[in-house]
This record gives sequence, C-alpha cells and structure tokens, in this order.
Amino acid sequence: MKRLTPTIVEVVVKAPWQARKFEPGQFYRLQNFEIESPVIEGTRLAMEGLALTGAWVDKEAGLLSLIALEMGGSSRLCAALRIGEPVVVMGPTGCADRDPGEGRDGRPGGGGLGNAVLFSIGKALRAAGNKVLYFAGYKNGADVFKLDDIEAAADVIVWCSDIAPATQPRRPQDQTFVGNIVQAMVAYGEGKLGETAVPLRDADRIIAIGSDRMMAAVSRARHAVLTPYLKENHTAIGSINSPMQCMMKEVCAQCLQRQVDPETGEEIEPVFSCFNQDQQLDEVDFPNLNARLKQNSVEEKLTNLWLDYLLKKKPLLRV
Ligand SMILES: Cc1cc2nc3c(=O)[nH]c(=O)nc-3n(C[C@H](O)[C@H](O)[C@H](O)COP(=O)(O)OP(=O)(O)OC[C@H]3O[C@@H](n4cnc5c(N)ncnc54)[C@H](O)[C@@H]3O)c2cc1C
Ligand code: FES
Repeated sequence: MKRLTPTIVEVVVKAPWQARKFEPGQFYRLQNFEIESPVIEGTRLAMEGLALTGAWVDKEAGLLSLIALEMGGSSRLCAALRIGEPVVVMGPTGCADRDPGEGRDGRPGGGGLGNAVLFSIGKALRAAGNKVLYFAGYKNGADVFKLDDIEAAADVIVWCSDIAPATQPRRPQDQTFVGNIVQAMVAYGEGKLGETAVPLRDADRIIAIGSDRMMAAVSRARHAVLTPYLKENHTAIGSINSPMQCMMKEVCAQCLQRQVDPETGEEIEPVFSCFNQDQQLDEVDFPNLNARLKQNSVEEKLTNLWLDYLLKKKPLLRV
C-alpha cells in the first residue's frame, strides 16, 4: 500500500497468475474479503467490486499494481487494506490494446485516472516504434503522481491543469498549459505552446481516457475546433468506464453500453464494456453512458456519508 496523493492510493497485490496474464490496457476487479473486513458499529466495511486498470505488473515477482482514486465508499476503503491482507483480484479482464501498430503516432489524452492506462499502453506503443504524445489533464497540478512512469510512457507530454499553476515540465520537449484538455490540444495544434517533435497532425490514433464528460468533449471537438489540426483519417478510441459489476464478460450486463451509428444516428449492437472497454469514440452514446453512471448515485452518496460517520466514530489505520 502506498499513498500517491491526498486522494490517490496504490495497492500492490501478489497474484502471480493474474500478473502473468496481463496485457497493456487490461483491468482487474478488486474487492476485500467480507470476513477480513473491519466492523464499525455493526457495519461491515466490505467493498463493492472495483474496476481498476493494471498500472504495472512484475511477471517475475508475480506482482501487480492498481491505482485507486478515492471517490466513494469502496475506493476509500482501499487505503485501509492491511499489508498481507488477502484480497480478491479477478482478471485480467477487458481487452488489451490490440493494435499498437508500428511506426505510427499515438496520442493518448487523459489525466489522474488515465495515467494508469497510459503506463502500460504508452510503453507498449513506444516499444513498437510509435511516438506518443500525451495530454495529461488534471483539475489541479497537485494531483500529479508517478512522474517518472508518465515520462517513460510518452515522447512528449503536455501538462494541463484546470487550475493554475500547472505542473512544470522536467524535460525540454514537454510543455505546460492552464485550461482543459481540448483547449490544450487546440493551443498545441496552433503551435502556441512552442516547437514540437511530435506534431498533432501526425497522430494516427487518439486514445481518450478519463471521465465520460472529458471523453465526450474530445469526441465532439474532433468534429469542430480540433478538425483543422488533426489528420483526416485518424482513428479515435475511448476507454469507456461503464458501470460494472461482475466484469466477467457478458454475464451480468451491468456494463452494457449503447452504440449509435455516427452516419445514420441509428442504434447499433450494444457493447459489453467489460469485454471491450476500448470503443470507437464516434459510436459511443455519451448521454446514455452519463445516465447509466448516475444510476446508483443516491446509494453511492449515502454510503459515502455513512462511511464518513463511521470513520469519525472509529478512525481506521489508513495509508
Ligand atoms: C475499465 C475500467 C477501468 C477503471 N480503472 C480505474 C483505475 O485504474 N483507477 C480508478 O481509480 N478508477 C478506475 N475505474 C473507475 C472505478 O472503477 C470507479 O471509480 C469505482 O468503481 C468507483 O468506486 P467508488 O468507491 O466511488 O464507488 P462505490 O460507491 O463504493 O461503488 C462501487 C460500485 O458499486 C456500485 N454500487 C454502489 N452502491 C450500490 C447499490 N446499492 N446497488 C448496486 N450497486 C451499487 C456502484 O455503482 C459502483 O459501480 C475504472 C473503471 C472501469 C470501468
Ligand atoms: S460487468 Fe457483468 S457482464 Fe460486464
């Protein structure tokens, strides 16, 4: 267990088989065992299954790393896991980044959560001879963690922060920008951020990783403000964070994502996101995703408040 920022923790699990099977871009389901979970005032602090991307694996040592942003009840309990405590790690699941290609320019864009996916995909893309340009978007520059790993996964990084000051680059080729990701991409495309070895227009593939609102904004901007700066026939993929439950590929159907043909606007075959989280940006029905992500909103808020109340009664040892 390691705290990376005031709201992000890293959980390293010994799970040799699950580490060996991992391919870049895949994720796991993490859960504590009910029997091991602490009880406060009669409430057992058992987690719901959490979908967490494999940040790195050490196949020799049989270790895998999961990085959790503390948002609600279950993710906040990650920090209370004890060293050596047995946990349930199902997976790897979802699809691997199936087409790293060779000698092409990739362009992931994402932020706090996106980092975990970037670590594995970015490294694999670079190893296959691609150039990776990463728009690292954060609400706040203080949320940045694992700088060395981010740098290892990208040829050029544009550090974007909604609130000033943005992270200052450590390498000469990296740049900094205050504003959102789309604004940063426009400024980069216009050449306002300076000289670059990886022009936006060379990118064959956009991979958007982050909140549904951020991915929807990138998706829309490709057909509007970003059009002049993008290659005409690039592909654009979003790493779709649908609500999930079993994550066992086509079992519970919690993760079903509505898809729409961008040409006709007609509904096409829905996708089980736990089978294939990487979906064509133009086909994802983002309003549907947003509505589905809010389906348990009341229960999630109540759980979070109840956890606040319990932790005031009896604080748990947390990293
Ligand atoms: C493919 C994928 C990869 C991801 N990778 C990462 C990552 O690397 N790092 C990261 O931080 N996040 C990642 N996420 C997002 C992460 O899984 C969610 O943010 C997390 O599940 C939310 O946890 P919480 O503590 O806020 O939710 P909680 O409120 O504890 O809920 C956890 C889950 O249980 C459901 N739930 C809660 N209450 C109920 C109820 N009463 N009835 C039914 N269901 C309920 C919730 O809707 C939610 O799905 C990923 C998501 C996906 C889909
Ligand atoms: S989460 Fe159960 S089938 Fe996808």
